[in-house]
Parts: sequence; structure tokens; C-alpha cells
Amino acid sequence: MQVEGSDYRTVWMEEGTVCLIEQNLLPFEFRIFRAEDYRDTCMAIATMIVRGAGAIGATAGFAMAQAYLENGSDPAFVETARQAIKNTRPTAQNLFYAVERVYKAGKASVAQAVIEAQQIADEDVDACRRIGELGNTLIQDSCNIETHCNAGWLAFVDYGSALSPVYTAHRAGKQVFVYVDETRPRGQGARLTAWELENENVPHVIIPDNAGAHLMSQGKIDMMIVGSDRIAANGDVANKIGTLEKAIVAQHYGIPFYVAAPISTIDFTCPAGKHIPIEQRHMDEVLYQTGTNDQGRMEKVLVSSPGSEAINPAFDVTPAELVTAIITEKGIYKPHELATLE
Ligand code: MRU
Repeated sequence: MQVEGSDYRTVWMEEGTVCLIEQNLLPFEFRIFRAEDYRDTCMAIATMIVRGAGAIGATAGFAMAQAYLENGSDPAFVETARQAIKNTRPTAQNLFYAVERVYKAGKASVAQAVIEAQQIADEDVDACRRIGELGNTLIQDSCNIETHCNAGWLAFVDYGSALSPVYTAHRAGKQVFVYVDETRPRGQGARLTAWELENENVPHVIIPDNAGAHLMSQGKIDMMIVGSDRIAANGDVANKIGTLEKAIVAQHYGIPFYVAAPISTIDFTCPAGKHIPIEQRHMDEVLYQTGTNDQGRMEKVLVSSPGSEAINPAFDVTPAELVTAIITEKGIYKPHELATLE
């Protein structure tokens, strides 16, 4: 994707350094974070400098390659790194998929680990491009689409999953309008999805998380497309907290609810959504908000009653029966058809 006239991927590796678009600063500042070793890269995943399933996966693959580059001849070192990378965040399947692929490749040689990590990143780009082409076939002209969180190119290496069909449709000349859930508490919709859409000149508006049902009841939404962090073999879908409520309301109003995700997000070893680990994040993400003040400086401010505590589950699971179809790079499937893809 292009930012101010230059082509960018969300994550890439340059001579052993993992380069990441610093997503905690967006949309206020565009900066590249450089992770010099796998520990730096782990920190970047845990602190959400990089986030979104595909981007986390590619980054984790590069982190595993960094560990091989640093000390690939020491199995204990490699194993410590492998576990550290897997401990950064628990929900996105792509992270585990990528670490294991690069770990196995590195047993042949360090060079092979680097090649495999790059391959995973390139495959992510190809898969997301294809998801865009296939998903575009579901989008009618003059379509109003609601999306939750950010499953755009910032959440992958490029193109995105849920937003890729939107970009393809828009470039093909279709009129599309996107209702962007702000996605509390971290605001990935209001901050990242809105920034991406603005950057691509796609007409959109940010809506409060609790406005979706109202808009659906008024006939303003034609379809929902969301991404996913992990899909169980039975088609249950883990995605950013709040997705489940949207799916329930969409079914109530007869609005198609699509999930877009590459095959690397499907956990074929996980029989059902109730087994997907749900990340619990720090309560400060709920109690405080971060933004820029009038002087353009980033500030963190308390937006809750002092002394109150909060809980902060980062994901929820939408049962397969609420999902109209899953858009993958191999085709568009009913949730119960996924198991045949293994
Ligand atoms: O906590 P995040 O920002 O890493 O959450 C992941 C997500 O961006 C969403 O859940 C998204 O819809 C699916 S990942 C492409």
C-alpha cells in the first residue's frame, strides 16, 4: 500500500533487522520501528507496535529467523527464543503457524529459516490480494459495509483481509461506503481503519461501537465484513471483542455477516471456538485513552471514574451458525466446509 507516495509493507526484514510500521503512533505519526534482535521483535508484538493476525504472524516468523541468525548453532538458545515468541500474544493463530514453520526450516540451515520467514510474508500478501478479488464478487455497487476493528493492510503484510475486498471493489469503480466501528478500548477502527480508508479515498464514517444495531435497524447496513485472529475447525471465529454482538444483531436483521481470513488463520487442531485462548489485556486500556492534544503531542488521559477497575478481554468467539461465509484465498466457504481444507 502507498503512504504519502511511497510503497510500504507493514513488516519487512532488512539484513537481520525487522522493520515495522509503529502502529501505536498512528494515525498521528508515521514512523518505522526497527527491531534489532528477536527480543526487540517480541517486545514489539507484545506492546502492539505491530498488531493484527497476519502482521503478527509475519513478524513472529522473522523473529524466529532472527534467533537462528543470532545463534542458530545452539539448540537451547533457539528453543528459548521459540517459546518467548510464542508467549508474546495468545490468540492469533498466524503467530504460532509462522513460528513453527520457521523453526522447522531452520533445522536445515540458518539461511533456510530466513527464506521461510520471507516466504510466509510473501504468501500473506498473495493470500490477501486473492481474498480481495474473491470478496469483491460479494459486493454490489452502492454497498454499505460495516467493519469492526482493523483487518486492513496494517493487520497483514499488505492488502488486509476484511478491507481487501473493499479496496478491490473501490478500485474497480464500485461505490462503497464503510461504517467503521471505533472498536474500544484501543480504537483500532477509529485510528487505523479510518486512516487506511482515508489514505485510499474510500468514503467512510466512524461510528460508536454501540451504534451498529441502530444503523442496521434503519436499513443502513447491507453487509458486514470482519477479519479473524483464529478460526476453529468447526467454523467458530475469534475476532476483536465486540464482533459477537455485531454478528447476533446482523442475524436478527437478516444482514450477511462475512469473515475474511487467510487459511493460515484456521487452527485445524482446535475443534471449536471455546478452546481458543482469549487474551486478557491490562485494565488501563479501558480506563485511559491516548490521543493528541492541540499542540499535536500524544497524551494519555483518564476517562473513567478514579478508583474503579475494569476488565479487558481482547477477543470474543462468534459461533459458526452466525457466520454467512468465510472468504479465504482458496474460495468462499460455509463455516462447516472449512474442515475439508486441511
Ligand atoms: O488486538 P489486535 O489489534 O492485534 O487484534 C487483532 C485484530 O486486528 C482484529 O481482531 C482483526 O479484526 C482480525 S486480525 C486481522
